[in-house]
Amino acid sequence: MLLDIKNLSVSVEDKTILKDFSLSVDEGEIHAIMGPNGSGKSTLANVLAGNETYEIENGNIIFNQKNFLELNIEERSQEGLFLAFQYPIEIPGVSITPFLRSAINSKLKYKKEKEFDSLEFAKLIRSKAKELNIPNEMLSRSLNSGFSGGEKKRYEILQMSILKPKLAILDETDSGLDIDALKIVTDSVNRLKKEISSFIIITHYERLLDLITPDKVHIMKNGKIVESGTKSLARKIEESGYQSFE
Ligand SMILES: Nc1ncnc2c1ncn2[C@@H]1O[C@H](COP(=O)(O)OP(=O)(O)OP(=O)(O)O)[C@@H](O)[C@H]1O
Ligand SMILES: [Mg+2]
Repeated sequence: MLLDIKNLSVSVEDKTILKDFSLSVDEGEIHAIMGPNGSGKSTLANVLAGNETYEIENGNIIFNQKNFLELNIEERSQEGLFLAFQYPIEIPGVSITPFLRSAINSKLKYKKEKEFDSLEFAKLIRSKAKELNIPNEMLSRSLNSGFSGGEKKRYEILQMSILKPKLAILDETDSGLDIDALKIVTDSVNRLKKEISSFIIITHYERLLDLITPDKVHIMKNGKIVESGTKSLARKIEESGYQSFE
């Protein structure tokens, strides 16, 4: 088992958002989480990543045999968790290439492996960018600033393909993507499936799940999973909405 979340309850400003939430993800699995606005999907992603805004009231998170609740944001990413944000942050003045090199090097250092020098890294990032149709010009721009929605998403995939996490969480990677960009994202996920063990994909659109076949689909409502199934569950939602799930 790669990720095991048990009976997790989480609140923010005295409001309970996740309620007795449990989810297990095995190595090699793709899980999709769907659910109405405000059901707690992004909160789950943030809590997993180690965002300290949220108060853990109960439950536990085991990732790769480690008690995740004892690790901070950075340690969790070094352990192999990657989160692509619904609203990526902009960092003016920090350009992509050195930022990503320091991210991968800190991970390599943690694992006591050899770090990249700038020449080696430049080669790596250019070859990955080429696969994703990212122009070299973008690699020297500031992090996310002035990027279009589709460019941000492509950049997230670039980041993911360099960091090669054990578990990647993609929060609404489909929103605002044109058909070509959506295809790039889904093709990359399908290609990276061999290198990145598992994915949690948070989405509102069944059409994304036509392109990335999930092993499991979960419906989240009011802070917990109310139903789990396969791809056909996503189709049911597309047809009749979330009302029938309690
Ligand atoms: N930092 C915070 N402070 C206050 N309330 C918060 C915070 N984070 C989340 N919430 C609240 O928790 C609830 C769940 O939010 P969350 O963003 O997890 O929903 P979601 O399922 O991702 O929705 P969407 O589909 O719209 O992205 C919402 O009512 C939201 O306002
Ligand atoms: Mg959200």
